[in-house]
Amino acid sequence: MTADHVALVTGGGGGIGTATSLALAGAGATVLVSGRDELRLQASVEAVRAAGGVAHPLCLDVCDVASIRDARQTALDLVGPVDWVVANAGVAISAALTSDEAESVARQQMDVNYHGTRRVFEAFLPHMLKQGQGRVVMVASSAALMGYPYITGYAASKHALLGYARSAALEMEGKGVGVGVVCPHYVDTPMTDASVARIADKTGRDHEQARAALAELNPGGKLVQADEVAGVILRLLQSDTSGAVVELTGSEQREIESGSPIASNTPKGD
Ligand SMILES: NC(=O)c1ccc[n+]([C@@H]2O[C@H](COP(=O)([O-])OP(=O)(O)OC[C@H]3O[C@@H](n4cnc5c(N)ncnc54)[C@H](OP(=O)(O)O)[C@@H]3O)[C@@H](O)[C@H]2O)c1
Repeated sequence: MTADHVALVTGGGGGIGTATSLALAGAGATVLVSGRDELRLQASVEAVRAAGGVAHPLCLDVCDVASIRDARQTALDLVGPVDWVVANAGVAISAALTSDEAESVARQQMDVNYHGTRRVFEAFLPHMLKQGQGRVVMVASSAALMGYPYITGYAASKHALLGYARSAALEMEGKGVGVGVVCPHYVDTPMTDASVARIADKTGRDHEQARAALAELNPGGKLVQADEVAGVILRLLQSDTSGAVVELTGSEQREIESGSPIASNTPKGD
């Protein structure tokens, strides 16, 4: 029953994370809205509650193993074991290959986008395995499927994430835990607002022109909406398939890998 699901959404304080928290709560799940900024988390939680859903803020830094462990315990005490994980937290920082920041920017994005997702998944996995069921959706990017200039660090971290997710899905076969991936092109969120501001600053174009230029880069010719990403995430969480990879182009959803049926297992001890 959907009503019994307990969902963790990382990066829940804005953009895709807020939209996903709303969608999951709308489907009856109890949602733990997680991130580092308490005010932003509280705003997302209020939005879910105003829509009639159940949500709680949960402070968690995906770069800090102790904070993930503490959050897991807080979640367990508050609402019981998490069986839906949406690993959505991420950062996007552009830097030319020859810039002084290239080294630190590459490391930071690998730490948040790849290791951060991996840490959260691996922290919550034992409880899902113990229950013999769980679903995880990792938010990658079109930059997991192709390259873009000036975001080598971001693209590398998202390629790494997709390789990890594909392998995790295979390793979870027969264990009742499904792993899915969404790969949106540019989405209309604060992350894209920041890219628009950077482009406007560097090129002298106004914000509307910069936003239109990003939208034109999407195969669908327009920005993806956060609600659409949230809808695909919910569909993957509710499906009995693991290993699916869905690309969102701005005009369509392409299931570029369809995955395979999840066979559940008898719950095991730790
Ligand atoms: N926008 C796009 O065009 C686009 C396209 C494809 C994929 N994506 C991916 O979609 C995901 C969500 O991005 P968005 O577009 O919704 O942008 P966003 O509004 O900037 O959301 C990113 C979220 O990640 C969280 N975060 C960053 N570092 C964190 C950390 N160390 N620990 C915990 N949370 C952290 C932030 O929360 P706090 O700062 O409050 O902690 C923020 O809520 C990201 O993984 C992004 O790479 C975005």
